[in-house]
Amino acid sequence: MGAVKTFPDGFLWGVATSAYQVEGAVDVDGRGPSNWDTYSHTPGKIDNGDTGDVACDHYRRWRQDADLIASLNVNAYRFSIAWPRIDPTGRGPAEPRGIDHYSRLIDALLERGIDPVVTLYHWDLPQELEDEGGWRNRDTVERFVEYAKVCYEAFGDRVKWWLTINEPWIVGLLGYLHGLHAPGYKGDVLGEVTVFHHLLLAHGRAVQEFRTAGTAGSRIGFAPNLSPHYPASDDPADVEATHASDGYVNRWFLDPVYKGTYPEDMRRRYEELVGPLAFIRDGDLETIREPIDYLGINYYSFRVMQAAPGDRPWPWRVIVPENVAVTGGFTGGVASTEAGTPIVPWALTDLLLRVRDDYGAPPVMITENGAVFPEPLHDERRVRFIHDHLVALHDAIQQGVPVVGYCHWSLMDNFEWKLGYAQRFGLVHVDFETLERTVKDSGRYYARIAAANAVVEP
Ligand code: FCB
Repeated sequence: MGAVKTFPDGFLWGVATSAYQVEGAVDVDGRGPSNWDTYSHTPGKIDNGDTGDVACDHYRRWRQDADLIASLNVNAYRFSIAWPRIDPTGRGPAEPRGIDHYSRLIDALLERGIDPVVTLYHWDLPQELEDEGGWRNRDTVERFVEYAKVCYEAFGDRVKWWLTINEPWIVGLLGYLHGLHAPGYKGDVLGEVTVFHHLLLAHGRAVQEFRTAGTAGSRIGFAPNLSPHYPASDDPADVEATHASDGYVNRWFLDPVYKGTYPEDMRRRYEELVGPLAFIRDGDLETIREPIDYLGINYYSFRVMQAAPGDRPWPWRVIVPENVAVTGGFTGGVASTEAGTPIVPWALTDLLLRVRDDYGAPPVMITENGAVFPEPLHDERRVRFIHDHLVALHDAIQQGVPVVGYCHWSLMDNFEWKLGYAQRFGLVHVDFETLERTVKDSGRYYARIAAANAVVEP
């Protein structure tokens, strides 16, 4: 038993969801269709033919869910606003019933001592904008800004923590390269990198508008998913592949936001594949660099990289590390979640130290971290997962990383995108027949941690 691992005063202990994954009620109160409605209703796209039509019915059960969240002793709830509820067509006018819904939810949270952490874009784009090219179309950036302004105006007096864009890398990777998420394109590298740029630009523009919206005392950031990278061996080719892939996943998003530049090595690689990146216009990087107040980090796992000369589009591969020596002191295989994701808590510490050293020690919030485990109620592996990741987080704080909060993914089992309802991430079990919620052992454990503001033993 080490010393008690206490977190800083005022630390935010949160649980996270996103609109399309939990809300359901897709045709209620004037909500417009989104690209995810279209995609999930396209036969063959989602495992088991699942859709977000009902999901957890969080849209209707918001009051009961606010009580549920409060019962976990947390003081933060990260959720996203569904753009098509506020702006059903993507071109205005705003839908007052959508605004009222989130207003009520925000008030219910505040009454219970829970700070809302609001994500503006967690992947559900109004379908009408998708029809006009979606994020490939530069005009979508300004449409996003108009929607963001409505949100600042409606909720800015009460919401102190904002996030612009969730996981831009995943939007491009799965939506344009692998064809696994909406809008479902495959092998479209130009589409991918165009969308990355427009998402970053939308982020920067939304931050600019935030500064003029008079939201005193509120903070805004974005929430990329970051993965620390390690070479599979000391072979220089693997080491180079590791650096390159780090450019693809991490630096491509952090460099423009913190330094106002795209990483040269990765820019060259894109240009070799798709030609000049003509969609990057003068002044864009200035906009993207608009200072933010904190960095959200979604952390799930590391990436162990091997060179794969000749592979398209990128000459590298992620390998499942079995008995590989990884720089940073790691040797041997690792356990995985039920979804096959390696469980590597210590890599979170590495990641946080690296962000501190390379990007000027910004305040950080872990905006997502969690795992798929199927056990309905006695999810001992999730308890262990939480314990180990929080120890790693505490370690980073001890080493001087300014961490302001941690949001566990997810509050409850929900619609896990391509994987449908089969893969469960929740601290709370959801019976998808009855929609009954039952707190799992992990939820009870997390509630003890939040109450103690410290990592307690399971
Ligand atoms: C992240 C997403 C989130 C959830 C988790 C498991 O990539 O941001 O919506 O699906 O993964």
